[in-house]
Amino acid sequence: MIKKLRKAVLPVAGLGTRFLPATKAMAKEMLPVVDKPLIQYAIDEARAAGIEQFCMITGRGKMALVEHFDVAYELEATLKLRGKETELAMLKDAQLSPGDIVTVRQQVPLGLGHAIWCARAFIGDDPFAILLPDDLILSQEPCTKQLAEAYYQTGGSVVAVTEVPQDQTNKYGILEIGADDGRLVEVTGLVEKPRPEDAPSNLSVIGRYVLLPDVIEHLARMERGAGNEVQLTDGMARMIGHTPFHGLRYEGQRFDCGDKVGFLEAQIAFALQRPEMARHVRNFLRKYQETD
Ligand code: G1P
Repeated sequence: MIKKLRKAVLPVAGLGTRFLPATKAMAKEMLPVVDKPLIQYAIDEARAAGIEQFCMITGRGKMALVEHFDVAYELEATLKLRGKETELAMLKDAQLSPGDIVTVRQQVPLGLGHAIWCARAFIGDDPFAILLPDDLILSQEPCTKQLAEAYYQTGGSVVAVTEVPQDQTNKYGILEIGADDGRLVEVTGLVEKPRPEDAPSNLSVIGRYVLLPDVIEHLARMERGAGNEVQLTDGMARMIGHTPFHGLRYEGQRFDCGDKVGFLEAQIAFALQRPEMARHVRNFLRKYQETD
């Protein structure tokens, strides 16, 4: 029986060193793209895929992420008093039901695999999605929803994949592939950040996953991989051959918001999606290009 996908895990314990000084006293996942923090894009995307329960893997200095999903009583009362209905509705829309969001702490930065293992009690025996909020995806259908559909179709784990230039395989988890229908790819192996000359393909995993809970027992071995970290990729690789495992060439454009240029590109792309500012932004870009 294929279990319903209800849970999502969001690893947010990273230090955000690439965005210092902005992230000295603020979680990098609170950085806004246009007017919404990265963490909220991830939660909204998961909710659009029918996910109801969330677990954030946090660390020191990440309390704003918890506050962001709490009820802001004083703020709401003030907005009401001032008749700011649109803003009020915006806040209400982002609110999760009491008990639907929990946090666990990853006290030590031992890698993404270790972070996911920290959520083992939350995951239990259920399938779960992982969203890395640094990866922001602009698409017609939310990326996690596309993965959820592939999960219901295959009954196994599914990761979002995209082709990367061969010289960039050392930045990603890379697939070794079997049968490929152009959209869904059978995964026969996974390697974390291989050198271009060792990479089995140029199909890379991006920060969206739907996994069967079996991955936890593999992560529990705490084997160190690339960068001497406990890698999620290695835990997933151990599931291959036991349960179905596929890569999904998702529809959409991915922005690496963990990178300054990627973050800037995301601002522009998402602003162009907003009817109230698209024209202004387009005109500005045109003008800027002319003076360049
Ligand atoms: C992580 C994963 C990697 C994946 C990438 C996607 O790497 O370990 O397999 O391809 O996210 O963004 P990180 O970017 O944390 O180094």
